[in-house]
Amino acid sequence: MKVAFSLNGEAISVEAAPTVTLLDWLREDQGLCGTKEGCNEGDCGACTVMVTDADGARALNACILFMPQLDGKAVRTVEGLASPDGELHPVQQAMVDHHGSQCGFCTPGFVMSMATAHRNGRADHDDQLAGNLCRCTGYAPIIRAAKAAAEQPVPVWVKDTAGTTAKAPDISLTDFAAWYADNPDATLVAGATDVGLWVTKQLRELDQVGFIGRCPELRQITRHADRVTFGAGVTMTEVLETIRDDYPSYAEMIRRYGSVQVRNAATIGGNIANGSPIGDNPHALIALGATLHLQLRDVTRDLPIEDFFIDYGKQDRAAGELVTGVTLPLGEDALRCYKLSKRFDQDISAVCGAFNIVVKDGVVASARIAFGGMAGTPKRAAMVETALVNQPWNASTVEAAAAKFGEDYTPMTDMRASADYRLTAAQNMLRRYFAETTGAATNVLEVQP
Ligand SMILES: Cc1cc2nc3c(=O)[nH]c(=O)nc-3n(C[C@H](O)[C@H](O)[C@H](O)COP(=O)(O)OP(=O)(O)OC[C@H]3O[C@@H](n4cnc5c(N)ncnc54)[C@H](O)[C@@H]3O)c2cc1C
Ligand code: FES
Ligand code: FES
Repeated sequence: MKVAFSLNGEAISVEAAPTVTLLDWLREDQGLCGTKEGCNEGDCGACTVMVTDADGARALNACILFMPQLDGKAVRTVEGLASPDGELHPVQQAMVDHHGSQCGFCTPGFVMSMATAHRNGRADHDDQLAGNLCRCTGYAPIIRAAKAAAEQPVPVWVKDTAGTTAKAPDISLTDFAAWYADNPDATLVAGATDVGLWVTKQLRELDQVGFIGRCPELRQITRHADRVTFGAGVTMTEVLETIRDDYPSYAEMIRRYGSVQVRNAATIGGNIANGSPIGDNPHALIALGATLHLQLRDVTRDLPIEDFFIDYGKQDRAAGELVTGVTLPLGEDALRCYKLSKRFDQDISAVCGAFNIVVKDGVVASARIAFGGMAGTPKRAAMVETALVNQPWNASTVEAAAAKFGEDYTPMTDMRASADYRLTAAQNMLRRYFAETTGAATNVLEVQP
């Protein structure tokens, strides 16, 4: 595939196999070894680069970023962070001044995350650096450096703009859907935060690949008074920013989804289409009563998102059918999302619950409750819901409903949690919801920023 982009300010045009990663290309073809390989699976941030397009600058992990995803964009690596005459970028100088590096293996990734956050004016340094691991220096000097650098202006030489390189033409949704219907065995790549690992860890060869990012219609966010529709290619960062004020609890859960680099790549469509029982969107979308949109060639259809997940590894999606987007209703916010994972940041959920319980005049008017990590699919708690609806919203109703979780779910024991833990955690989440909605403070055990 022909790929055109700018690298540290220089126009590049290369022929690249669809699943060559930027990290491999930089290190093996270009001899640019400043971008490090740590985990090669998106977890450590050692490979962080700055990528700029029409939507702005984003930090991304180069190890799970395929070359065609860069078409028409601008890439800046650690080699291009100091000015051409050698003046250090403010974050580099601050890392020196504040002793932010010892062995330095993590440092190129840190400074690239810091430079991108600096360029975007971000002051939430802990969040911005949650995807960069450091074992030697510790985070205090690094955070001090990030704070110090924030006082300095953004150097002109890192202000890349996109669109300066001739990229392949965009593809209309009609053409893309027709191509996929004709090539149902092709692998769709959206953010590649799953597919990237098939290549780097499972060493899979993917013959035919279709890039969602080439279809602008799948990147749209359409907002109306009573609903918002996300195209399948909208990233988790964009979802978080869009729903922050509508559903703050959902947004807070997304803040703990992977890291900045992962959220900047991963898409809502990929998180639904992969059918994972522990993804961090489906249970929240089920609790909200969201509608999924699909398209097979020129035939579109909509379905309640909970009906998409049929069984473990089985979704209601025909061969060659695209997930095109999802619509969330907007309105009264009764939604609470609770994510339990072994680590607070950058970890897959062991159990994640979403509760949307509307109480009118002290009585439960409606209840939508869904969980990830409790079954082979993201699944509604139908028996618990039935035990709540039309009952007074009080502790005895909650206890009677909590006892029904065992009828809705038979969770499994795996490396993340035991079946008992999962069931108890789910019951406690309902108690927590009740406590929160009746005025008790419940977040004392969570690490606060
Ligand atoms: C370090 C790291 C941390 C992570 N942390 C979390 C986390 O905290 N929570 C969480 O839920 N997930 C997490 N993930 C998993 C991953 O981010 C998600 O599964 C992600 O949403 C997948 O989206 P994507 O756009 O990257 O999909 P891709 O990897 O591009 O694709 C995923 C699958 O969906 C298919 N697909 C993609 N788009 C479409 C479409 N429009 N129509 C039909 N099929 C499609 C692809 O063919 C593929 O089978 C993490 C991953 C990594 C690497
Ligand atoms: S090498 Fe660890 S995130 Fe890329
Ligand atoms: S300085 Fe060694 S890992 Fe960060």
